[in-house]
Amino acid sequence: MQTVQTVAALRAAVARWRGAGQTTALVPTMGALHAGHLSLVATAHAHADRVVASIFVNPTQFAAGEDLDSYPRQEAEDTAALRAAGCDLLFLPTAAEMYPEGYATTVRVADLPALLCGHSRPTHFDGVSTVVTKLLNQAQADYAIFGEKDWQQLAIIRRAARDLDIPTQIVGAPTVREADGLAMSSRNAYMTADERQAAAALPEALNAAASSIAGGTGIDAALAAARKTLTAAGFTVDYIEVRGAGDLRMLTVLDRPARLFAAAKMGRARLIDNIPIPV
Ligand code: PAJ
Repeated sequence: MQTVQTVAALRAAVARWRGAGQTTALVPTMGALHAGHLSLVATAHAHADRVVASIFVNPTQFAAGEDLDSYPRQEAEDTAALRAAGCDLLFLPTAAEMYPEGYATTVRVADLPALLCGHSRPTHFDGVSTVVTKLLNQAQADYAIFGEKDWQQLAIIRRAARDLDIPTQIVGAPTVREADGLAMSSRNAYMTADERQAAAALPEALNAAASSIAGGTGIDAALAAARKTLTAAGFTVDYIEVRGAGDLRMLTVLDRPARLFAAAKMGRARLIDNIPIPV
């Protein structure tokens, strides 16, 4: 696996493969890789001949006071993990390569970024849509793979790619979980051992609420019960909501595919998760 730091070298590799009749899939990440990220590399392999992963801790998606400075950085381990997963190329741009002096453009999707996580992170998704648009244009890959764990992010990326006629096909991949059901996240490492154990209440509460809604319990009652369970487990709940899977609009009756979304804080970690409401 080769590592490149410039857009020119990234493009040259992808163009070389395309010239040889091979397709490419891109897996954008911020590093601190776990099995969830590596599952995206496997999905990428299922779609394309060649796989490019990127690692860039994108400053524009962190607000002041968020964890940009403390975000885990482990380049050597990440490089080894990507190599072992059969990744062909690692794109590791510097901040100056991504945002050179005088950089002035933001990609902002309307509406979706203000929902759910947008309440507490109002500038976050503009940073995400901007950096992902750049990565898609830089790599010019046939496919780009994103995790369903960040469902709102995936919806925003799909919208931006469609609206801006980016020819890369956006592919969603299922959430990879720890043995106790907690969605894998680089931020899980922020929890103490006790907090980590208590955090299993998040997927448990979501599963219980989703099946009780599917079983006929009213959405409000099911969400109130879940909120109570999470608070009792030591979480500070940011939101827990049922929304349309495609448009992320609030649902009061299950008249279309729906998902349950939650964000909650456990100690220093802000955790998010989402699951479908079974039909
Ligand atoms: P990061 O949090 O590193 O995640 C990179 C990719 O891995 C995202 O598509 C995310 O949804 C996916 N992912 C994370 N945990 C997962 C899990 N448990 N199961 C499946 N997929 C999982 O998301 C970002 O970085 C950034 O916002 C990025 C898109 C790279 C833009 O900077």
